[in-house]
Amino acid sequence: MNEMRRFEGKTALVTGGATGVGYAVAERFACEGAGQVVIVGRRPDVGGSAARTLRAQGLNVDFIPCDISDESAVSELFRTIRSQYGRLDILVNNAAAFEPLPFLGAERARWRKTFDIIVDGAWLCTQEAAKLMVDTGTKGAIINVSSINGNRALEDSSAYNAAKGALDQLTRNTALELMDYGIRVNSVALGFIETPMSIVDGVPEHETDWFKDIYVGRRKIPQRRQGQRGEAAAAIAFLASEDASYICGAVLPVDGGLSITF
Ligand SMILES: NC(=O)c1ccc[n+]([C@@H]2O[C@H](COP(=O)([O-])OP(=O)(O)OC[C@H]3O[C@@H](n4cnc5c(N)ncnc54)[C@H](O)[C@@H]3O)[C@@H](O)[C@H]2O)c1
Repeated sequence: MNEMRRFEGKTALVTGGATGVGYAVAERFACEGAGQVVIVGRRPDVGGSAARTLRAQGLNVDFIPCDISDESAVSELFRTIRSQYGRLDILVNNAAAFEPLPFLGAERARWRKTFDIIVDGAWLCTQEAAKLMVDTGTKGAIINVSSINGNRALEDSSAYNAAKGALDQLTRNTALELMDYGIRVNSVALGFIETPMSIVDGVPEHETDWFKDIYVGRRKIPQRRQGQRGEAAAAIAFLASEDASYICGAVLPVDGGLSITF
């Protein structure tokens, strides 16, 4: 895949790492020498099979089931990380879910569910990971996977967009508070990336007429295409690596230029 070995001997945890961007990140860390990569997700069948596929390539990848919006499950997850691996160098808060939610008539429970995963889940995992890093004197890196939606409006997306905006603020505030311990917190704001989340009503976004018209034809994405999950993973790996040693609290757009147009 590539010749770099930036994560030699490191232990990394990727939430939502069984599919899409998270899977590409787990693969990237492992291919770059990580001693241990832990994929976390809700579905044992999907997560178990992802870890088996990566282990079959000779990579050190485990799967631990956990719903990151469940506080006691996250505590249990980090008890396991402490006892099984003893340290954590990198956390990627990648897990999220999107469901269209028209504002008028939206039930509070559905708004809450989005926040529970995207904001509370990242908050819980960040606090547990940071405590472990501080306890072990590890100068770690935490990367939040956000979206360009975090500072934009989109129809039927108030919960997801507000949650990603809150995640960006969590990035900045935790970056400030954790820097005293040598822990860097940064974020990527992804645009259109080809993953399971980008399949709408069974049709991949990039195959739809609206995508071809607005984003390619009218060049709303200057690079005129969807991003590949490996391109998102490369940016996340950069922020997790020592190559980004002077980057702290950044929200880096990875969107083919979409956020510079209007
Ligand atoms: N694909 C895109 O175009 C795009 C654009 C902007 C941002 N993003 C962000 O990228 C990240 C990865 O998304 P993706 O596109 O790879 O989609 P994906 O659906 O493949 O990945 C999300 C993963 O999170 C897991 N997950 C959801 N809720 C969870 C929970 N409570 N506990 C544990 N795991 C949970 C899902 O099972 C899934 O494996 C997300 O944060 C998403 O918001 C994606």
